[in-house]
Amino acid sequence: MAPDTKTSRLLTLAAEPAPPRTAVRTVEVVGLGYIGLPTAAMFASHGLQVIGVDINPATVATVNAGLSPIAEPDLPTYLATAVRDGQLVARATPAPADAFIIAVPTPYQEGHAADLSYIAAAARSIAPHLAPGNLVILESTSPPGTTRHLASRLMEARPDLSLDGADGRPALHVAYCPERVIPGRTMVELVTNSRVVGGLTPQAAELARDLYATFVSGDIAVTDTVTAELTKLAENSFRDVNIAFANELAGVAERLGADPWEVIALANRHPRVSILQPGPGVGGHCIAVDPWFIVEAAPDLARLVRTAREVNDAQPNRVVGAVTAAVAGLARPQIAALGLAFKADVDDLCDSPAVTVVERLAAALPTADIRAVEPHATALPEPLAGAAGVRLTGLDEALAGADLAVVLTDHSEFRAPAARAAIASAPAVVDTRGLLR
Ligand SMILES: NC(=O)c1ccc[n+]([C@@H]2O[C@H](COP(=O)([O-])OP(=O)(O)OC[C@H]3O[C@@H](n4cnc5c(N)ncnc54)[C@H](O)[C@@H]3O)[C@@H](O)[C@H]2O)c1
Repeated sequence: MAPDTKTSRLLTLAAEPAPPRTAVRTVEVVGLGYIGLPTAAMFASHGLQVIGVDINPATVATVNAGLSPIAEPDLPTYLATAVRDGQLVARATPAPADAFIIAVPTPYQEGHAADLSYIAAAARSIAPHLAPGNLVILESTSPPGTTRHLASRLMEARPDLSLDGADGRPALHVAYCPERVIPGRTMVELVTNSRVVGGLTPQAAELARDLYATFVSGDIAVTDTVTAELTKLAENSFRDVNIAFANELAGVAERLGADPWEVIALANRHPRVSILQPGPGVGGHCIAVDPWFIVEAAPDLARLVRTAREVNDAQPNRVVGAVTAAVAGLARPQIAALGLAFKADVDDLCDSPAVTVVERLAAALPTADIRAVEPHATALPEPLAGAAGVRLTGLDEALAGADLAVVLTDHSEFRAPAARAAIASAPAVVDTRGLLR
């Protein structure tokens, strides 16, 4: 029997997603990189009008053509649709909006102090466009206190506004919401990951939570800004400390004649133990950077965090030491260096310890012929491009006549049975990733 009209309407209503709680209709994302662009495309695909701002004119032009300047699965589809439907427009300069999300870089400078100049520049650029009741959210990974500092700068530029509306001036709501996605799964994790939102006021936190709830299906926890800032840094520091422990343990195991990977695999059978994997060091933009922001915030207290950074940063030299010892006495060692990316199956060669190892090997062994194999690169990265004795080759060419193979990245291409067999047949192997075990 067909349901009556009233019941049918109720069923339809029940099946419809709840309307977004946010009052934001136009959101402006400042910084269209690995974080900002997927976020902009995601908001656009959930019915918000999105303005994307980037100081790089090439990025603006590419996005407005409906194309993605970065390699990220599914992003091109989201972008093409959002731009075609007029939901997303990129600009070189800010414009008025209901909410502003800042996703600009936060690298560290000499001495590991955070470089907050990009955030300062973004604040300067949006300040003239802010209106009463606007929401400003910082997404960049930042040292504790950065959101409050950002808010102070906005208040200096806009004395007509206040942070809480308490003194009769209309409120500008300021919050912090760090990003946790992993490149390669960004469009999935943007939706499914849980988020932490810190507000300078409870109202700012709630407004930010309601905005992200337009597409986030994970939990959105609400707290203050310093807690949210420190939470993000704690996540990556936890991994850095754990990797440093694995690296230290690997050194101890090797000295004692035990297999480090077996020790870790067996220890991880304990229900409350989860040791990460050792390797040639830690790379990428997050785990090797964020712990320094904790050290900067409390240098006298963050001793373990600092030591972990130092342990992991010392790994490339340990690998170079093992390789140079193994080829000592050879007049012109032939070395196959396998992998330049900072981790398996990515094309990111920036801040990669594998690149550091090859660079230092070339300096330590000036007569060596170093054949670097990186399936995800078509040219050597900058620090190696001019290095004498280093060339980019395929795996077979690298291994032909090699005196030693050093495994630096455990790409799938190297894990294939035929590749593993070929690598294992090299006269000597320094396996920093446990690829052959
Ligand atoms: N990439 C990641 O996997 C990841 C993960 C979590 C957190 N984060 C954090 O997110 C933040 C952004 O990182 P990213 O990887 O997206 O950086 P990115 O370098 O890929 O992109 C940053 C973009 O900001 C633009 N930009 C710089 N200054 C600007 C300004 N004043 N106005 C407008 N645009 C400006 C740049 O041109 C660039 O396109 C950083 O704090 C990073 O630590 C990154």
